[in-house]
Amino acid sequence: MFMNLAHRGASEYAPENTLAAFYKGVEMGANGIETDLRLSKDGTVILFHDHDLNRTTNGSGAPRDYDWSELVELDAGSWFSPAYAGERLVTFEEFLHHFGRKELHFALELKDQQVEQKMLDLIHQYRVWEKVTVTSFSFDNLVAVRKLDTAIRIGHLIRKIDVAALDKLEELGAQQVCPSAELLTPEDVALAKSRGFEVRAWGAFTVELMDHVLACGVDGTTINFPDKLTARLNER
Ligand code: G3P
Ligand code: CA
Repeated sequence: MFMNLAHRGASEYAPENTLAAFYKGVEMGANGIETDLRLSKDGTVILFHDHDLNRTTNGSGAPRDYDWSELVELDAGSWFSPAYAGERLVTFEEFLHHFGRKELHFALELKDQQVEQKMLDLIHQYRVWEKVTVTSFSFDNLVAVRKLDTAIRIGHLIRKIDVAALDKLEELGAQQVCPSAELLTPEDVALAKSRGFEVRAWGAFTVELMDHVLACGVDGTTINFPDKLTARLNER
């Protein structure tokens, strides 16, 4: 089945990486959710994209400088719209509590060092290992994950597919390659698939790019507007 992955939730319509955005993604027909993992000061795994709190909350500084008890007090919705005032940040554990039992795939992106073991512990505690792909732009982070877990699905976020990148992923035992939508070609997808990799695009930020990755033959994509992707998939 094509992976329609709500990127930070349905982030076109609700504040990214909040329960509101995740639930909206599912309502809009996404069969998976993409989210970003970081650590708070007290070692709680939180879902947060940026290096600092400024853009998407009423806080400032790095999330890592605060305990979860402080982060949970922040408003993570008002920046997006007054309709979402009071929407708050979410821990990975809360996310699994809400969505772990649903028929969904989880594309987890490591945005921090040392988050790997805690993430894996929660994946196993909530028994969701078959529903998860752990991803990162950092190859080193993925090597760390593979050392800790020989079975978990791994995907590498890269700009452009080439033979050297696929060789490295094969050696790592990764299942998925995640290229940029903008640079993707049908030949890239064919090459990766011929080597046995699943191809999941990122950065399909416009309807044109969404249609482009579909035409290239990918197995899935992250998308800020899962409703439009659902509609397009229904036309096929
Ligand atoms: O699917 C991965 C994509 O989310 C990577 O970019 O910046 O949104 O985390 P970013
Ligand atoms: Ca991400």
